[in-house]
Amino acid sequence: MLDGGDAEWAWKYPERFGPPHIPEDNPLTPEKIALGRRLFFDPLLSRNQNLACAGCHLPEHGFADTAALSLGFHGRSGERNAPALMNLAWRTRFNLDGGVRSIELQVLVPLLDSTEMASTTPWVIDRLRADRDYVDLFQKAFGRLPDEFGLVRALAAYERTLIHFGSPNDRFEEGDSSALSPSARRGRQLFYQSEAQCGSCHSGVFLTDQGYHRLLPADSRDDGRARITLDPADRGKFHTPSLRNVKNTAPYFHNGQFKTLREVVDFYTAGGVPLPDSLPGDPRIRPLPWSEQDKEDLIAFLEAL
Ligand code: HEC
Ligand code: HEC
Repeated sequence: MLDGGDAEWAWKYPERFGPPHIPEDNPLTPEKIALGRRLFFDPLLSRNQNLACAGCHLPEHGFADTAALSLGFHGRSGERNAPALMNLAWRTRFNLDGGVRSIELQVLVPLLDSTEMASTTPWVIDRLRADRDYVDLFQKAFGRLPDEFGLVRALAAYERTLIHFGSPNDRFEEGDSSALSPSARRGRQLFYQSEAQCGSCHSGVFLTDQGYHRLLPADSRDDGRARITLDPADRGKFHTPSLRNVKNTAPYFHNGQFKTLREVVDFYTAGGVPLPDSLPGDPRIRPLPWSEQDKEDLIAFLEAL
C-alpha cells in the first residue's frame, strides 16, 4: 500500500491500471499531498475536534474501519461500514451508492454529515486560518489563505496517492508463478473458473466491475443505489467492492455484517440468504457444492489479493 505522505513517495502505479483520473484544476503536487495528509489525520475538521478522517479510515487496515458501523459525532452511527480507501484515482463514482462524482466533492460528505464529523466549512476554515502552520502550508500549496478551494483539493490529492498493488496475486499475474501457494492457486481457479463466477463481478485489475448488485435483503433505512437513481429496482444494491487488500479490511459488506472472510465464503457457498420475490438477488448467487478444502483454498486466494 502506497501513501503519498511517505517520504520516499513518488507517483507510480502499474501500467495495467491505465491512466488515473486527475482533474485539470487539481494536479498533484508534493505540497498539496503533504497538506492533504495532515488534514486527513487532523481531528480539527470535526465539530468537537475529536474525530479525524483517519478515525474511521484506519491506515493500518487499508483505510477501512474495524467497526461494522463507525461512530461519528456524539457516538452516532451511520448505516454503512467505512470502506477501504485505495486506487480512488481510477474511479469516477464514490460512496457505496455511487452518489458522488468527484473525490473533491466527496470530502464534504463526511465533513457535514451529522453522524460523521457534523462540522461546517466556515468553522473549519476559521480554525485553519487561526493556525500559523496551516496558513503556511496553504500558501505553499495554493498561494492563498486556507479556504474551501484548497481544503477539498488538498484532501483529494492526498487520497489519490493511496495506491494498492504488488500483492502476491499481482506478482502471479505478472508471471511469477511461485507468488501464490498451491492452495491459493486452486482458490484462484474456483474464483475465476467455477460456477461461483466470483470474477464476473469482482473483475479486472481492481477486482470490481464498478457496478451495483443486491446480495442482502434491502434494508428499510438504506436504499443503496436507489437513493441516487430513485429506481425501486435498485433498492438494496451496493457497489461491488474491490477485493484488493481484503484480508486487512474486515468487517465486510455495506453494513459490516460479516466479521471474517470465512463468514463471507460461507455466505456465498450457502447460496446467499433468501430475498423476497419483489426484489430478487443475482442469479449467480446460488448454493455451491464445495468441500471444506475448496473453501480454504478460496480464502487462501482472497488473502493473496
Ligand atoms: C464517522 C466515520 C467516518 C469519517 C470521520 C469519515 N468517513 Fe469517509 N466514509 C465513511 C463511511 C461510512 C463511508 C461510506 C459512505 C457511503 O457509502 O455513503 C465513507 C466513504 C468515504 C469515501 C468513498 C469511498 C468509496 O469507495 O467510494 C471516501 C473517499 C471517504 N469516505 C473519505 C473520507 C475523508 C476524506 C474523510 C475526512 C474529511 C472521511 N472520509 C471521514 C465513514 C467515515
Ligand atoms: C453478482 C455479483 C457478485 C458475485 C457473483 C460475487 N460478488 Fe462478492 N460482492 C459483490 C457485491 C455487490 C458486494 C458488496 C455487497 C454489499 O455490500 O451489500 C460483494 C462483497 C464481497 C466481499 C466483501 C468485500 C468487502 O470489502 O466488504 C467479498 C470478500 C466477496 N464479495 C467475495 C466474493 C467471492 C469469493 C465470490 C464468489 C464465491 C463473490 N464475491 C461473488 C458482488 C458479487
